[in-house]
Amino acid sequence: MSNLRETFIEELKDLYDAEKQLMKALPKMAKAAEHEELKAGFEEHLDQTEEHINRLEEVFKLLDETAKSKKCKAMAGLVEEAQDLIKEEEGDAALICAAQKVEHYEIASYGSLKSWAKLMGEDEIVDLLDETLEEEKATDEKLNDIAETAINVEEHEAAGKED
Ligand SMILES: [Fe+2]
Repeated sequence: MSNLRETFIEELKDLYDAEKQLMKALPKMAKAAEHEELKAGFEEHLDQTEEHINRLEEVFKLLDETAKSKKCKAMAGLVEEAQDLIKEEEGDAALICAAQKVEHYEIASYGSLKSWAKLMGEDEIVDLLDETLEEEKATDEKLNDIAETAINVEEHEAAGKED
């Protein structure tokens, strides 16, 4: 069995790769989004993701480890699904769902890493991870808002016209 520090570093490499995969996927998602608010949300999250990668590199440095990635199969699957939705022109509601799945995955990963860092007594790392965790949660909330307001209003209007 590996110790907590080893487990932490393995998960860190996985998350580092996951964020990098997301960096490549977000511009495509922004391009596919029809709602301006959603498009802007994806673009904003792209900037945040760049910062998330920087923070992870900072964490590697604090542990005296070289920043390395290990292929995150989960993110690869989530991104692949998002790309299929784009190809099939499923629309904004489906895009939001795909993006929220990504956020929930990241929230789970950052949450675990943060509690392990706490156990390891690495306060500076806890703070770095927490900053990102809060941004992922805020993004998830924002996606919720867009899904509940913008998208629904439009569906409503479309349905109204059919009557
Ligand atoms: Fe992130």
